[in-house]
Amino acid sequence: MKRVMGGLLWLIATILMSACTLNWSMWLPTPQTTTLVALRGDAQRGQDIFQNGLGEAPPCSSCHALTSGGFSLGPTMQGISQRAGSRIEGMDAEAYLRQSILEPEAFIVQGYRSLMFPSYARHFDEQDILDLIAYLETL
Ligand code: HEC
Repeated sequence: MKRVMGGLLWLIATILMSACTLNWSMWLPTPQTTTLVALRGDAQRGQDIFQNGLGEAPPCSSCHALTSGGFSLGPTMQGISQRAGSRIEGMDAEAYLRQSILEPEAFIVQGYRSLMFPSYARHFDEQDILDLIAYLETL
């Protein structure tokens, strides 16, 4: 009788334990599906930075006219969305615009000198850059 009881207890224990192991995953934290909210450019805000600058960073408009005709120390931004993608082989418009802002010396537009404000990289965060690019892509 003792042996039967012992065996029974062992059986119950095993069943309980396996039940536990089976359900164990229920108690593990379910892997969170991380929703990476991709930053999107806001052309309206980009226009504001272009015209007014941001903090210590000078406005782009101090050197870039929007249309040809008036004075412009740098290339006018008229049609920039069209030509940005073909300035450097293998570089799409977004990458070119980003580089133009962050590393202006990396590529000097023919006929111009390297006079662009060199340290926007220190003043702009990713959102600022995306906003500016979104704006330039409307021109
Ligand atoms: C101090 C004057 C100055 C300021 C301020 C300035 N730029 Fe420029 N930029 C230039 C000059 C000069 C060039 C041409 C030389 C070169 O390619 O770096 C140029 C070139 C560019 C080009 C390449 C144009 C092309 O036709 O390929 C882009 C794009 C550009 N700037 C965007 C900007 C943006 C956006 C800002 C503001 C965040 C800005 N620039 C602020 C002077 C300036």
